[in-house]
Amino acid sequence: MADAKTILITGGAGYIGSHTVLCCLQAGYDVVVIDNLSNGHRGAIERVEELTNSTVTFVHGDVQDEGILDRIFSSHVIDSVIHFAGLKAVGESVQKPTEYYTVNVGGTLTLLAAMERAEVRNIVFSSSATVYGIEAPTPYRESLPRGTTSNPYGASKAMIERILEDLCVSNPEWSAVNLRYFNPIGAHESGRLGEDPQGIPNNLMPFIAQVAVGRRPKLSIFGGDYPTADGTCRRDYLHVMDLAEGHVQALGYLNKKGCHAFNLGTGTPISVLEMVRAFERVTGVAIPYQIVDRRAGDLPEFWADAELAGRVLGWSAKRDLDAMMADTWRWQSANPEGFVGQ
Ligand code: WQD
Repeated sequence: MADAKTILITGGAGYIGSHTVLCCLQAGYDVVVIDNLSNGHRGAIERVEELTNSTVTFVHGDVQDEGILDRIFSSHVIDSVIHFAGLKAVGESVQKPTEYYTVNVGGTLTLLAAMERAEVRNIVFSSSATVYGIEAPTPYRESLPRGTTSNPYGASKAMIERILEDLCVSNPEWSAVNLRYFNPIGAHESGRLGEDPQGIPNNLMPFIAQVAVGRRPKLSIFGGDYPTADGTCRRDYLHVMDLAEGHVQALGYLNKKGCHAFNLGTGTPISVLEMVRAFERVTGVAIPYQIVDRRAGDLPEFWADAELAGRVLGWSAKRDLDAMMADTWRWQSANPEGFVGQ
């Protein structure tokens, strides 16, 4: 396509990033990815190219490196940026707060300065439902203020949202969309692209998938005495392809100036035990589990009010829980070690 717009996707070799690169290509955009591969995979970009029969310009580099960013902006006509690059392990962020603020907040500031130099003032930011804080009433609505977050990871997301708001106030040429993700799971339906966390998975779905494939003996369920129907925590799990498509919708919304926030979730909470049972039912694979102590910092339940994204962006989650489970399993069973050795 001769007049295709080019999108710079930071962190595009990661889990959500790579699925978003795929959706952007399928929507007719050209894509440049910058990723330092600290938690992403070069193989993910190769798989995206294979699935879309198109080419991605891949830059192995860091968003904290202003020289690399300037070179990208001077050698490509970038229309908009989707910013995923950052650290995302909640527990690790408590141990290494300065690293999290340096990479997440500092990296974003370096990126925004490079965008300003290049006069590219359109950004979609990878935010999180965690910005609502630990005391927000459910379901979470965008009209709620950001609240107190319990860890540096969440605080870094809230700080970046605030920075983008301030930037849009300072200069009406800026457009920013903060997308507040709930709990993305699943994989591309081809089974060629999916989540490949390093080390022991922190998150529920990749842990279940690794138990199913025999990499871990059993799942530990963190807490069976929460004030929910079955005693386990409830979350709003959404399919990563729905989430990725939400970014394409958000790109289209950047023609509106100013800073806007949208929840991307299904609006339906599911408990940990319901997740285990759904995976077993859909895949036929048993998941041995034990209920252990609560994990520090976990909230009993939260889910999205997804009305605003539907009304304003024209986005809603289309894929159901069975698709999330089937697609996770298709990916994990065909790639038991993830992208390693591919
Ligand atoms: C879901 C539920 C656990 C693992 C976190 C971040 C959030 C976002 C996504 C990402 C909880 C339980 C989990 C396990 C378990 N950030 N669980 N055994 O905590 O809702 O959200 O990840 O980059 O900001 O806070 O997601 O998948 O870790 O947990 O019982 O081995 O599964 O206690 O109830 P969470 P999760």
